[in-house]
Amino acid sequence: MKLPLNIPDLSLAPASPRFIDYQSEGQPGPGLSMAQELTAGLCAESASVAPKFFYNALGSKLFEAITELAEYYPTRTEAAIFEASQRLMASALVRSGISQACLIDLGAGNCAKAMALIPHLAPRQYVPVDISVDFLRVAAERVQSAFPALDIIGLGLDFSARLVLPDAVQPHDRVFFYPGSSLGNFSPEAALQFLQHLADPAQGRARGLLLGIDLVKDRATLEAAYDDGLGVTAAFNKNLLLNVNDLLQSDFDVRQWRHVALYNAAQSRIEMHLEAMCNLSVRWPSHERRFQAGERIHTENSYKYTLEGMTALMHSAGFEHVEYWIDPKHWFAVFWAAV
Ligand code: AVI
Repeated sequence: MKLPLNIPDLSLAPASPRFIDYQSEGQPGPGLSMAQELTAGLCAESASVAPKFFYNALGSKLFEAITELAEYYPTRTEAAIFEASQRLMASALVRSGISQACLIDLGAGNCAKAMALIPHLAPRQYVPVDISVDFLRVAAERVQSAFPALDIIGLGLDFSARLVLPDAVQPHDRVFFYPGSSLGNFSPEAALQFLQHLADPAQGRARGLLLGIDLVKDRATLEAAYDDGLGVTAAFNKNLLLNVNDLLQSDFDVRQWRHVALYNAAQSRIEMHLEAMCNLSVRWPSHERRFQAGERIHTENSYKYTLEGMTALMHSAGFEHVEYWIDPKHWFAVFWAAV
């Protein structure tokens, strides 16, 4: 018997999702090893560590806690936009001619956002991608239990370095899902390149992109969101040093560092830093880096966009049709961009 489109045939249900772990197997293609990348950043005159190093197992849990903080408005504001507009989002896909979507969830984390959207978009395939492999495995299993007939391919991958999708990911009707304002963690130049890569018919082959992005607003609201009263964001920032210790066999002492978050209005970005509270030295195999009291390690930029700025960026990247939904305070936007 032939089943109508999008009605799951449970006899074909996979018992558990397929999973490809590029993180442990090594990234596909050329590139610096994590140790080389970390060493280069730490030894630079203005030290920096890329924000992807926040997300070890504890970092992913701390980030989940951040999303529940009263001060961190992006997650709940975005959720309210999805809640209010998911039907309109589903019809935007249909209007773009997408009927058998492959939903590629970039930085899927606990997959909670996609799980809320799946019943509305009814994708044929779901591809959660995340650098935090063990966390993603558990989350992908959870999605599979909720949607037994959905074809799921979990990808343990640092897509900020290089987004390579295996052949098992269907080439047609690809819809990239990039919520949570994670694009804001790229510089605007890198964000443009990344969007171009998604829209490129020989690379990401996107038919569409559903993207959540944080908007420019007053300094006090922004800075409180990144320096909460409980100190969860401070712990999240400092945990990066513990992750670096694991990866590099270094000896950072988190008690010697303080969390700094400030809004750089000229660059439209929140900056997070770790500041040395005394003169200190950090050692790892064949290396030593001294820090003076007050010296900082730059750990994250979180760019905030205007509606016009993001629309222009999407057009420059090759997306033709752009529309968006926003909350009543105009704090956050969800964009739909179709190629
Ligand atoms: C994941 N990313 C979008 C978060 C942000 O808001 O830039 C990470 C974060 N850093 C501190 N708090 C949350």
